[in-house]
Amino acid sequence: MPSEDPLRFAAVGDLHCTKDSAGTLRGMFAQASEVADALLLCGDLCDYGLPEEAHILADELAAASVPVVAVLGNHDFESDAQDEVRRILADAGVQVLDGEACEIHGVGIAGAKGFAGGFGRATLGSWGERPIKQFVNEAIQEALKLESALAKLRTPERLVLLHYSPIVGTVQGEPVEIFPFLGSSRLEEPLIRYPVNAVLHGHVHRGFPEGKTVSGTPVYNVAMPLLKRTFPHRPPFRLIEVPRTSEHEMLLHASPASA
Ligand SMILES: [Fe+2]
Ligand SMILES: [Fe+2]
Repeated sequence: MPSEDPLRFAAVGDLHCTKDSAGTLRGMFAQASEVADALLLCGDLCDYGLPEEAHILADELAAASVPVVAVLGNHDFESDAQDEVRRILADAGVQVLDGEACEIHGVGIAGAKGFAGGFGRATLGSWGERPIKQFVNEAIQEALKLESALAKLRTPERLVLLHYSPIVGTVQGEPVEIFPFLGSSRLEEPLIRYPVNAVLHGHVHRGFPEGKTVSGTPVYNVAMPLLKRTFPHRPPFRLIEVPRTSEHEMLLHASPASA
């Protein structure tokens, strides 16, 4: 008999693994593996984006006995060694998504880092000096990456991993002056065109734990510092439940594009 239990995804971002983090994360990864079917990491995996930090994180992740899917965050780019960080994590079995999609237990997961630029009517526009246009173009390219990842998915159940926030609701709590650096409404547009079960992001350490897109999709800010402060008596990850897809439904939606 197939299980009726929902699938559970343990989500957390902003681990900010440093050279001194050995031994500090493996307990949480083991705990998440006991209660969840997969682990989702929402960027800022390393503190300075150093390969040395990534090796320490990879060692800690040996305690995770479930599939691990991740996106990188801005901190993972700090030392311009993001490709090596990605490779080290991939060698440790982590699926690092950068405008790509994967499938875990029949659930589609689309992932991209995202970028900054502000929200709603305060979104920075592509106008004026070339550096402003380059900045805005980066936000547009990240939104396109998310869109192309979503377009590949054929599964009935879908999750999205981001580092930056796609909505203003989960940045509330931070100083309003820095809202434009915490995310971009441009990331929300593909989420309206391609409905998903839930969106998970990090980056916003002092924001709000949950909100919704304009189309009603739940958005969870899973930055570890925020989870620790908001839910001090719980392990520092958020459990997201997704209905289990029957084999019949999987066959119905199977497509070479989702492989
Ligand atoms: Fe962070
Ligand atoms: Fe960040």
